[in-house]
Amino acid sequence: MENLLNWFEKRLPVMNAYKKHLSEYPMPKNFNFWYLFGSLAMLVLVNQLLTGIWLTMSYNPSAEGAFASIEYIMRDVEYGWLLRYMHSTGASAFFVVIYLHMFRGLIYGSYQKPRELLWVFGMLIFLALMAEAFMGYLLPWGQMSYWGAQVIISLFGAIPVIGDDLTLWIRGDFVLSGATLNRFFALHVVALPIVILLLVVLHILALHEVGSNNPDGIETKLPKGAKGEGYETQFPFHKYYTKKYDIIDSVPFHPYGTVKDLIGVAGFGILFAYVIFFNPEMGGYFLEPPNFEAANPIKTPDHIAPVWYFTPFYAILRAVPDKLTGVVLMGLSIAVLFVLPWLDRCKVRSYRYRSKLHLANIVQFVISFIALGVLGTLPATGLYTLLAQIFSFGYFMFFVLLFVYSKNEVTKPLPERVNY
Ligand code: HEM
Repeated sequence: MENLLNWFEKRLPVMNAYKKHLSEYPMPKNFNFWYLFGSLAMLVLVNQLLTGIWLTMSYNPSAEGAFASIEYIMRDVEYGWLLRYMHSTGASAFFVVIYLHMFRGLIYGSYQKPRELLWVFGMLIFLALMAEAFMGYLLPWGQMSYWGAQVIISLFGAIPVIGDDLTLWIRGDFVLSGATLNRFFALHVVALPIVILLLVVLHILALHEVGSNNPDGIETKLPKGAKGEGYETQFPFHKYYTKKYDIIDSVPFHPYGTVKDLIGVAGFGILFAYVIFFNPEMGGYFLEPPNFEAANPIKTPDHIAPVWYFTPFYAILRAVPDKLTGVVLMGLSIAVLFVLPWLDRCKVRSYRYRSKLHLANIVQFVISFIALGVLGTLPATGLYTLLAQIFSFGYFMFFVLLFVYSKNEVTKPLPERVNY
């Protein structure tokens, strides 16, 4: 048996990769609650892929058959209702998990040097995920699927010169039609999942090249011999990490990380199951009421709002009366996140050792983001529009202020070793 395994390993070093990227990966000892969401994002991704494949087996991607095929899945396919609710709840859960995962990166400065590329891959995943969710939402071919897509696709029409041709090209028709549904289906079930999977692999490879950050934002991988005696690596970490570094205050990912993540999986599983079995529509936030009616191109719903995870950006779009400026600002609100590593010029990563001003700025950013999320679900009338303008200002000011104060920020002294 050992000879056979060795033979295999020499030709494809699977065990080596398993040890390097999983069991013997050095995990800082002070990982906390906020470090649960990377593995949970992977879990939700697997859930979406598996339930998606089974839904595809009974779904009919045509304007004539889509809505009825969803009803068929819900009523007649064995456990079809469970597959569908796992997938629709999974979409919202994905964004809950990802927003918390990004928030962790924000407070602990995980985007800072040398993890800029890791952050950029994360942002590319976020973009791909938004496209994936948007296209998936058209597939049930309900009223909100249809009119939501109509609103978003028409935004491209605001682009000067090429706008009209671009919307025609995206729709594949003069109006939103079965042709659009077909191409969204192809992108949703084949193209984008491949892109997302590839990006997740790159995200993890980029992380393992530089190593994990931690809640204190200090180094746990010191250049070999830099600190002399007493700093030698204590645990069996993979040779790849120990060749280059003295690894301190870390434990091997297995069993410490796996057990910790399992607790996260259990907690998440309870919440996930609660929504699926007791509250799958989540008060109209996860599945919107107009979507229980088939798409009708000649009847516009009274109030068109995207699903909750898009509403912060949608509120920024609607805060500006001019369509083109709104589109540009919405684009900017996402683009600015890509360059976050270069806007923050502070040498200290974690908010724990940064200024009160930085903490206040993070708090106001979170308040603005949540407020925009709420406003995006409400009609864009007088007071709401004014509030959306104020909170959009708060959103962008986070980045402007960060760039200004981070250069000469007064920070607290960093500890030698991590706190836990
Ligand atoms: C499908 C989506 C994603 C998956 C599966 C994923 C997975 C992971 C995993 C497993 C880790 C290591 C464990 C952990 O730190 O929690 C990680 C770390 C990280 N991810 Fe993601 N991620 C995703 C999306 C994102 C996004 C959208 C961003 C930000 C734009 C991001 C930024 C980061 C950063 C900065 C780290 C390092 C954190 C640190 O060491 O402090 N990720 N990711």
